[in-house]
Amino acid sequence: MNLKELVGIEAAKFVKDGMTVGLGTGSTAYYLVKELGRRVNEEGLKITGVVTSSKTEEQAKELGIPLKAIDEVDSVDLTIDGADEISADFQGIKGGGAALLFEKVVATYSKDCIWIVDESKMVDKLGKFPLPVEVVPFGGHNLFRLFEAKGYRPTWRKTEADELLTTDGGHYIIDLHLEVIEDPRALAKELDDYVGVVEHGLFIDMISRAIVGTPEGPKILEVPAK
Ligand code: A5P
Repeated sequence: MNLKELVGIEAAKFVKDGMTVGLGTGSTAYYLVKELGRRVNEEGLKITGVVTSSKTEEQAKELGIPLKAIDEVDSVDLTIDGADEISADFQGIKGGGAALLFEKVVATYSKDCIWIVDESKMVDKLGKFPLPVEVVPFGGHNLFRLFEAKGYRPTWRKTEADELLTTDGGHYIIDLHLEVIEDPRALAKELDDYVGVVEHGLFIDMISRAIVGTPEGPKILEVPAK
């Protein structure tokens, strides 16, 4: 079993009958959704899933997991999602799979969030992984130039056909190659303030625990209460 599968299965144990569950996106969340599908079908687990992307929606539908749209529920009991980096103080970068906007919306309406990662994603400080910024196409190239001028080393997220990638929300993604983010909270605020930025991949104070896959087994890290 690979580490992503290991943490996907471990995280599914936190899902109980009757819950509304936010279903994350990416190659790790894939295993969570697969395991929840198995439990729904084999154990009769009763849940309602809320998806964070069209990709996850496709998988959940194939597995027969009952779904509701985020706007059909007032809140989500628990969201389980992957992450691209988790810092020592449990802040994160997400959006490597381009689903950051819907992931952050679902996380925002969730009473509890868990991230599932393999141990390679645990870092001291965030920033080696390029930080995704989702922008509206109108004026997007101006934002790109502005990030260049600020020394943020932006690149456009492209498709395999070398076209600008369009997100589920109909936006573009600019990746910032920052190497290290000394103050994620301050950068998040700065990015929130740019007109035309819809969202960014800095997820601040979002989770109660992280489940980390290691060759010795899954490690459950509880985030200290603030
Ligand atoms: C999707 O946009 C992302 O936020 C993913 O959750 C993140 O990139 C982790 O993906 P993997 O589990 O595929 O590494």
